[in-house]
Formats: sequence, structure tokens, C-alpha cells
Amino acid sequence: MCGIICYVGDKQARSILLDGLKQLEYRGYDSSGFAVREGIHIDHCRAVGKIAELERKVSGLDIKGSIGIAHTRWATHGEPSEENAHPHTDQDENVFLIHNGIVENYLSIKKRLQKKGIVFRSETDTEILAQLVGQNFDGSLSEAVRKTMSQVEGTFGMAVIHRNVPDEIVVARRGSPLIIGVSDDGLFAASDVSAMVRYTKKVVHLQDNELATLTADGFSISTAQAKPIERDTETVEWRVEDSELNGFPHFMLKEIYEQPETIKNAIRGRLEPGEGVPKLGGIMPVWERLKACRHLVIVACGTSYYAGCVGRYVFEKLTEIDVEVELASEFRYRKLNFPPNTFILALSQSGETADTLAALREAKRKDASLLGFVNGVGSSISRETEAGIYNHAGPEIGVASTKIFTSQLTILTLLALLLGRHQNLSLTEGVEAIRALQELPDQIRTILAQDNHIQAIAEKYYKSSNWLFLGRKFNYPIAMEGALKLKEVSYIHAEGYAAGEMKHGPIALINPDMPTVAVVPKDDMYDKMISNIHEIKSRKGPVIAIATQGDDRISELVDELIEIPPTLDYLNPILSVVPCQLLAYHCASFLKRDIDKPRNLAKSVTVE
Ligand code: F6R
Repeated sequence: MCGIICYVGDKQARSILLDGLKQLEYRGYDSSGFAVREGIHIDHCRAVGKIAELERKVSGLDIKGSIGIAHTRWATHGEPSEENAHPHTDQDENVFLIHNGIVENYLSIKKRLQKKGIVFRSETDTEILAQLVGQNFDGSLSEAVRKTMSQVEGTFGMAVIHRNVPDEIVVARRGSPLIIGVSDDGLFAASDVSAMVRYTKKVVHLQDNELATLTADGFSISTAQAKPIERDTETVEWRVEDSELNGFPHFMLKEIYEQPETIKNAIRGRLEPGEGVPKLGGIMPVWERLKACRHLVIVACGTSYYAGCVGRYVFEKLTEIDVEVELASEFRYRKLNFPPNTFILALSQSGETADTLAALREAKRKDASLLGFVNGVGSSISRETEAGIYNHAGPEIGVASTKIFTSQLTILTLLALLLGRHQNLSLTEGVEAIRALQELPDQIRTILAQDNHIQAIAEKYYKSSNWLFLGRKFNYPIAMEGALKLKEVSYIHAEGYAAGEMKHGPIALINPDMPTVAVVPKDDMYDKMISNIHEIKSRKGPVIAIATQGDDRISELVDELIEIPPTLDYLNPILSVVPCQLLAYHCASFLKRDIDKPRNLAKSVTVE
């Protein structure tokens, strides 16, 4: 999705902005642009395609100035083109504005402005904002932005400069993240910490319906109603090296390999092995209510949703709580009627997914209690929920989520275990669970050690244009996640199915050209999975099995075998997903796909 980086300070803005744009590339974009000012002179440039194209266009140009705004655009209104790229300007080219989000009432505003004789130069909703700021300007840029905020519906994170206000950048947010970065060399504003983490780790999160004025000397925040806001800086934990490849060819592979570490981070300091109980400080603010919770609704999108689907089985195994899992994008349209003491748990890597946020807000309206499990520290979801648990997994740069999925499964298990131990789960079961959780990092290492073998399997099958993934119970969501990973990064069509559903339709597709990945660890679903594999083999379908180490029965039955170490049944998904991630990665690599930035996808989906 779109990205914003702005700078005002003592240094030249151009290289800081171009560097920031490169750090935002992972979010997905199709064009980019920036504006840098020196006095009343504003240089600006826009380009379609990669940031390298923008750099090429400005190479050799003498662009000076220590104030600037820059943007990566992911097209929503109007095709990717130079005219539609940001910054947009007002009629007189005094205002330069960049924007993330969607202005919902843009058409009615556009018609009104056109009647006044204003000529639009793009198809975007953003240009409306630039034109409105221009119309509303009466000497104060912040007041012009404030008035504009009151005229538009929809979402925005925006940054504006004005030719006649030489020292200021004004930024504003509603529903789309904006973070101010504070350093000795000046101030930053960005939609994403990664764009400025090289320069500062001290940040201030702007909240919805707030705007801020940034100058080289400092910043001030106020609400849309002009009420001044005082807010302390926070320190982000991300390191510069987290957003570097460190020898890996792609972030996706690096992040798959980081999983032993990210699982350790998810459990570090959170286990009481002797008591068989996790310690989860983040949920203590709601602990008394949570202990009495009998109904939990998990809301999420994409990979996070599949983590929630595994979570449902884990909660059902370890607790007495009824769990529903809902796609956040559908949840809002349900007739919501929660039993007393219902908790809503939002799962999100970014903490900024628009659908998940909208679902939370709807649940809040119905008086449900809100929990958030996110990786994005200080993100919107973390601020709009009452309590929660952070993944502490560092930035996930590859568009396809990998390390956060296994981290989400780990912290979901911790919560289920904690609640289960306050219900019927015995000390022995608690101690056993903690021991098994602690073994996971080394067990993932043994799977990663089979990477060459998994690559060889991918080499054999990557030309197949249709794949099926099957699993049951805990591993049914892994089948769906495996299929999602494959289609996202390799563009191969894949379907994830509950294995029991195969004979209700997908079996018609089975033929020698369609590989099936069967997730079949030794658990109570094993015999049924074996029957499904027989059904595929009798129709000459190739089967790649992900099975428990030492399973001789399956090795004779299938075409390819990837082994995972034995663990508790409800922890199997944390292991069985890793071969799926590697298969997807290697297929994409053989197909020469843009693995970290697959076409049409965005890392943080901040529009509904
Ligand atoms: C898939 C993927 C997406 C995200 C989804 C939710 O690999 O990354 O499906 O899982 O967009 O994003 P978050 O978790 O940030 O809410």
C-alpha cells in the first residue's frame, strides 16, 4: 500500500527521502514521487515503476532543500501513471500534498470544485485534498488542513507543504497511520517506522483526527477541533539490520529462517515452566474479565485469519471457551449479538489492517471487550484495544507473511494455556506444553536443514499450474495457508481444503499433473488422512506429504516426503507450515517471481 516519508531539519532532504522510499518499497507500490523545497522554490518529480526510475529521473539535477515530502503510490483511483502519482498540487501549484487512504466523498467535492472552474489533472481522490487545502488556505497551513479534514469523509494519512509557508510540513491522520520521528538532525514523518529507523528510533504516534505541524525546531500536535495535545516520544525496538538482507537473496527466505528466533522472542520471559503457566503481562489490565470469558471471537485477514483458525482448535483443546473465527472484512456485516463477557481478539502483523480495525470498532460499539495481538508496536490496533500481546518479531519485510504466522500461533497457544490452566488443564499438561513450546525453535532448525531437499521437490513440481493442499483439524488451516503462500509468491493456482471435503468436489481435479500437499502428522486425524492419500494415489495424483519423522507407513505411499519432528498435536501447525513456506518460496524462485513484492499485493492493507 502507499507509503509516506517526510523530513524537515538541517540535512539535505533529497537523499533522506529517496532512502526512505526504498525502505517503504516492501509495502507494495506502482509509482512514486517527492517534493523538496528551498525557500519558495519547490522541486518535484514523479515516476511510474520502481524507485530506481525516480532516481534515474532526478540524477544530475541539482535539487536542494532541507524540507521535503515523498510517497510510494499503490493505485486505487486511476491507473499507475505519472499524473496520478503523488505529490498532487492545487490549481496554483502552491500546495504539494501526499496521501495514503481513500477519500470517499471525492466525487461530490470534485464536481463542486469543477463548477468553480477548477481543472483537475489526475483521476485520483488525493487531488481533491490538494485542491481543498489550496482553497482553504488563508495564511495558516495547519488551519487549511484542519478545515479540509472537516470536509472529507474516508481515510487519510497526509503530508502537505505550501509555497508561502516556507518552514513547515503539516501532517494529519484519520484511519491511516502516521508517525513522527524525532532526531537531533530534524524531524521525520512516515507511515511506517521502517522508513526512518536509520535516522531515529524516537517516535510519536499521531492518532486519528489529529494533525501536527513540523518545523526544524520541533513539532506541535492538535486535534481536528484545535485542542492542543501533549504526547511523549516512545522508543521503537527495530534495528537497522532487521530491514537488511544479511546475505539472504530475499526477505521472505530470511524471515523463514528467523523463525527459531522469533518463536524464542514470543515465549521469552513469558513462561513459568515449574507451574506450567505462561505469564502474559500485556493482558493483565483485563485479566479479571478474561478469566471469566466463555466466548472468544478472533477477527483477522489473510494469513492472520488462518492463524486464528488454528487458534480455534487450540483453544478448544486447552480451554472451556467457545471460539469463533471471522474474516474481519465479513464480520462487520454480521448481525452481532454477543453473549455476556465476550472478548474480541484481533490478530494482525501490521496492526494497521483497515478491515480488522473496522471489525474492532464495530465490536466496540456492541460493548465487547477488545484484545489485540500485533507485531506493530504502537500501531492502531494496539492502541484501540484494551490489552494485548506483542509478537516482538522485528519487522516483517517480505510481503508474504511467514515468521509472524508462527509467532501468532505461539502467542495464541500461550493465551489458551494460561486460560486453560485457570480452568481444567492439569499441572502435568501445563508443564508438558511449556516443555514442547521450548523445543520448537530447535525443531524448526531441523526442518530448515531439509531446505535443499524441499528445493529439489519444488524444482520437480513448480511447472504444475494447479496444486491442492489438504489437512484436517489443527492442520486444515495449514492447508489453506500453504495454498495462500504458494499463490501469493509464485502465482500458481492452489487451493487449501479440509481433507474430508476432497470427495465433495476437488477430487474431480486430481490427475498426474496436479500435486497435492498433504499435511499428515501423527495425530488423531492420521488414519483419515492416509485414506485421503490413497484416494489421490488411486487417481494417479502425485502426493507431497508433510509427516512426522520416522513414519514408515507414509513413506511407502507418497511421492515425496518432508519430515517434521514429533510434538504435541496442537503444536504441529507451527512446524508443518515451515515446509509449505519453503515450497512456496522455491517455486517462486524457479519461476523468477518478484518474491518480496509479488504483483498487486501490499504489505499493509490500509484500505477496506
Ligand atoms: C499473506 C499476508 C496477508 C496478511 C493480511 C493481514 O502472506 O501477508 O494475507 O496476512 O493482509 O495483514 P495483517 O496481519 O497485517 O493484519
